Amino acid sequence: MKRARIIGTGSYLPEKILTNFDLEKMVDTSNDWILARTGIAERRIAADGEATSDMATKAAERALAAAGVKAEELDLIVMGTITGDFPWPATSCLVQNNLGAKNAYAFDLSAACSGFVYALGCASDFLLAGRGKKALVIGAETLSRVMDWTNRNTCVLFGDGAGAVVLELQEGNSGILSNHLHSDGSYFDLLYQPGFGARNPASHQGVDDKLCTLQMQGNEVFKVAVRSLAEVSFEALEANGVTSKDVSLFIPHQANRRILEATAKRLSLTDDQCFINVHKYGNTSGATIPIAMDEAFRGGQIKEGDLLLLAAFGGGFTWGSTLIRW
Ligand code: ACO
Repeated sequence: MKRARIIGTGSYLPEKILTNFDLEKMVDTSNDWILARTGIAERRIAADGEATSDMATKAAERALAAAGVKAEELDLIVMGTITGDFPWPATSCLVQNNLGAKNAYAFDLSAACSGFVYALGCASDFLLAGRGKKALVIGAETLSRVMDWTNRNTCVLFGDGAGAVVLELQEGNSGILSNHLHSDGSYFDLLYQPGFGARNPASHQGVDDKLCTLQMQGNEVFKVAVRSLAEVSFEALEANGVTSKDVSLFIPHQANRRILEATAKRLSLTDDQCFINVHKYGNTSGATIPIAMDEAFRGGQIKEGDLLLLAAFGGGFTWGSTLIRW
């Protein structure tokens, strides 16, 4: 049986660290509040002039090196991002050019924090459909550029970063076993960026009203996130005839420690089964899962034969899960 298998991972985090203590000097918040409500201690912020394609390229180079694959061997690049360099063209095209992946077709996919899980499923299905043999899947975000740095409700939560994996179509039982995706657009305005698209085009008033910053109703998001992450995780387990006891490592979207712990509890997962790095990087949206996967792999927490469960939830709303035999 043919499956898309992850043969290399890579990630990149910008150097600049913004701690909760730094944020105490910017908005009316405290380290204690942020730690207790989110588990986040610090996050990374892109340097001046550093954009999503720059970070994505570095993560991709590391994933390609780990896989031992040359950029020209890539057939496909799919990137989950909501903070591309430009509204268009696709940031994945810029990455393709940076890498010299001249044989690859490239496109972006907008599924907010679920972007990587959507991109992974999409790339896997393209490979299985015969649209190539090797794919690069990226999650990368520069959320600091769409933050309202005067709004304590949002600016303490997010960070910048990029992660990438190389997929190869291989014979065998290892690889992506399943990918389940869902959306519910009735919640679109609980977590979104109101400007400057076609609905609210760029305007001076829009800048004054901060329409080009992320806006969120946090506690509503929280409730739906926990329910959906658990449901879509069970969906993956049931579809593959396994239980949470069989999961070697659960790598959820890193939004908030409380969301992750509540989800893990619903799934009856132990602490040892859950990978959490939200304390170091905050919520990097579509980048959290590939960054976490790269850290877990390089840190020796993922071995051949392991069963990995990925689950994500984000704006749209969108949510999804992927089960992987490593
Ligand atoms: N520092 C201090 N106080 C704050 C801060 C802050 N940074 N932010 C909010 N508060 C205050 C509020 O103003 C409110 O004060 P009030 O009671 O005087 O009105 C109080 O804290 C409680 O606010 P809540 O919003 O009810 O706090 P809650 O316990 O829900 O925590 C949080 C807020 C952390 C945003 C939580 O709702 C959450 O994590 N939601 C999920 C949001 C998320 O992760 N979004 C990311 C995208 S979706 C995803 O990735 C899953």
